[in-house]
Amino acid sequence: MIVKGVAMESDGLPVVVIAEALAAGCAEYLRETCEVVEAAGLSRAELLEILPEAEGLIVRSGTRVDMELLEAAPRLRVVGRAGVGVDNIDLEAAARLGVLAANTPFANSVSAAEHAFALMLSQARNIPAADASMRSGAWNRAAFKGVELHGKTLGLVGLGRIGALVAARASAFDMRVLAYDPYITAEQARNAGAELSALDDLLARSDFISLHLPRTPETENLLDGEAFAKAKPGVRIVNASRGGIIDEAALAEAVRSGQVAGAALDVYAEEPLSGGPLVELPQVVLTPHLGASTVEAQDKAALQVAEAVAAGLFGRPVPTALNNPDPRRTPSGR
Ligand code: MLT
Repeated sequence: MIVKGVAMESDGLPVVVIAEALAAGCAEYLRETCEVVEAAGLSRAELLEILPEAEGLIVRSGTRVDMELLEAAPRLRVVGRAGVGVDNIDLEAAARLGVLAANTPFANSVSAAEHAFALMLSQARNIPAADASMRSGAWNRAAFKGVELHGKTLGLVGLGRIGALVAARASAFDMRVLAYDPYITAEQARNAGAELSALDDLLARSDFISLHLPRTPETENLLDGEAFAKAKPGVRIVNASRGGIIDEAALAEAVRSGQVAGAALDVYAEEPLSGGPLVELPQVVLTPHLGASTVEAQDKAALQVAEAVAAGLFGRPVPTALNNPDPRRTPSGR
């Protein structure tokens, strides 16, 4: 229930605010045991205003769950992220304040892997530019000569769940797959159909490079001007993982110089992307963070995040928990 813009506790049920647009299954599941406030489309200030009674909060990537938000939600006990990436959630601050955070690590994997492949193919075959050209009335077959994936080397930076799904699809395209991932063994890489490589080796040998890793202080600007200079000339870069891992100005420069033949990006250092050098380059395919935007992934993420938040609120185990909330800082103790 909302009274004067503030979510109110009702009938003793915990209030859960759903801050972004999610598939209907999320609210449907939670309504059985909680008071649900659907708050997609609110400005940040409006969202903060409705949080004082919230015990649960559900977000995608568009809501920053930082100290300011946590302080605006003194009763908050669980925050659920419908998706994988949690760079928009301050997990440590949440833990210090007794707030459990959980995500849905399995919901989006196939959709993200398929989107990475769609980006790779669109870039290799100039599909967006050819489509735009036809819509302007042209029939220009000569302008859009592409390259095959067959026989090419794909370098995967990150060989977790999504990277492994991309590797499997790459082998169906007869690509050779290299993988850089400090957290796996050579045998695990082989089992995924990839050869474990050092990053510099991957850069030097790959015709396509696709990123499948989280944004952390260690991965920020991992692909910078120096990395592009070490890469095989004419490499193509795909990123459907997280923004900020590529130095966008350095990428634009490398594309302009021809060292990088092109790129296909779904994620950006700052989202939404507004302008910047990449937008000017026809060799760069851009999509607005659509990796998880399929009917299937959204249905799964909506239900799984609802299950995690309800489990946290009602004291059941949360297998996808991401932090270890301080038990002394229960919301009533704040
Ligand atoms: C993810 O990390 O899974 C995606 O960013 C999900 C989303 O689009 O919200």
